[in-house]
Amino acid sequence: MPRNNSNLHSMPLKRKLSIVSVAFVIITMYWLSRPQNPNKRVSLSQNEDKESICQQSNRKPQIEEFHFPRASPVPNFVQGPGLEHWHDENVTDATCRFLRHSKDAKHLPHIMQQIYRCFSWWLRNPEKQHYFLWPPVKDTSPFVTGFLQTLQQVFRVEFVDTREGHSIVYPLVNYSFDAADYTGGYQVRSPGDFAYLQQTIRERHPEWPAMAGCQGPHGHLSKLPQPRITILNREVSSGRHLYNAVALKEILASQLHARVQVVDSFDGASFEQQVQTMQQTDVLISPHGAQLVSIPFLPQCAHVYEIFPQHYFVPRFYGSLTGAAGLFYHAVDTGVQNLWHDTLEQRQKARAQHVCLPIESIYETLVPALNETIHHWQHCCYHHKKPRLPSAI
Ligand SMILES: *[C@@H]1O[C@H](CO)[C@@H](O)[C@H](O)[C@H]1NC(C)=O
Ligand SMILES: *[C@@H]1O[C@H](CO)[C@@H](O)[C@H](O)[C@H]1NC(C)=O
Ligand SMILES: *[C@@H]1O[C@H](CO)[C@@H](O)[C@H](O)[C@H]1NC(C)=O
Repeated sequence: MPRNNSNLHSMPLKRKLSIVSVAFVIITMYWLSRPQNPNKRVSLSQNEDKESICQQSNRKPQIEEFHFPRASPVPNFVQGPGLEHWHDENVTDATCRFLRHSKDAKHLPHIMQQIYRCFSWWLRNPEKQHYFLWPPVKDTSPFVTGFLQTLQQVFRVEFVDTREGHSIVYPLVNYSFDAADYTGGYQVRSPGDFAYLQQTIRERHPEWPAMAGCQGPHGHLSKLPQPRITILNREVSSGRHLYNAVALKEILASQLHARVQVVDSFDGASFEQQVQTMQQTDVLISPHGAQLVSIPFLPQCAHVYEIFPQHYFVPRFYGSLTGAAGLFYHAVDTGVQNLWHDTLEQRQKARAQHVCLPIESIYETLVPALNETIHHWQHCCYHHKKPRLPSAI
């Protein structure tokens, strides 16, 4: 009895102690895993870039959505004698000639402007043998090299250096940024061209990781899908480096329920790496620049936020590429939209400037805009999923 008695007294104390310690562990774990307080703001002291340009800028960025056509009539993106033989069954080749001597034929975005147009022309002529005249073999950017290899290996395009007997078209290049000019920017013949490009490349690489957001194999209709946001930056030495990229990531991750990653740059990244980064991105945030030529590899429903430096605002260029890929385009203007420099020298200076999104403006403009974008993306995701499921079976 005395033994039992002492047990009766000590047991509740032990139990009390264990209850207290379990409660302590639960509270600590809850506290550690709590969502970040949305009212706690990221300050400039946490900011990796303390350049005066970004601290002093108090200009509020303007965000504007633009809609560009998904497809355009063939004469808007290619021209030349080959167009006359379009429906002629006796013409057995579809040949596209790269305009090597055109203005800017050495600059990656303009090279891709031409190559994407040729690609679309070959898709327009599926029954014919596809030839590429004078490919830009000297270009050393991994993206162009990888894309050209893909054309040869996956799409069976033959590269030739003679024009004898071929039915030739060439890309209609126009580098003007005139708002009324629809031949500028990027064009394709059919709204499905870039989807077909992606699908065909993915069939060749079944080992690649799942695509982003709603299209991945683990996406379920019953669950609200979570987008993946990629902030794709540029090296400081390349110009148009985005200040505050890490602060931007922290703010978006804490304010929006999204997975956010920062990619420092695509410099030196292989074609495969660039394509895979795009495939795993639902919302791309990036300064204006050549790294955006990979936009056609973003998955369905994706949104692009292109950030422009002050005094250099050209939404038509990558906006048209985003439109041709059937995706959604937003231009973030950090300067004065209508200020356009008249001389090339002034423009070159303006476009080399780095890009700043002051912390306050991220909260005031980017967070609400992205919040709306995420809702839009979730709807798009939901509506695209239903028709896609049966075709996948
Ligand atoms: C194609 O070739 C055949 C035989 O040479 C000819 O009869 C026909 O008219 C040609 N078709 C066209 C559209 O030129
Ligand atoms: C290019 O665009 C400009 C501005 O819209 C236009 O004046 C010019 O005729 C175009 N050139 C070609 C070859 O289409
Ligand atoms: C995002 O939008 C939802 C619904 O429109 C709203 O309830 C929420 O507060 C917004 N979140 C932010 C961070 O703006």
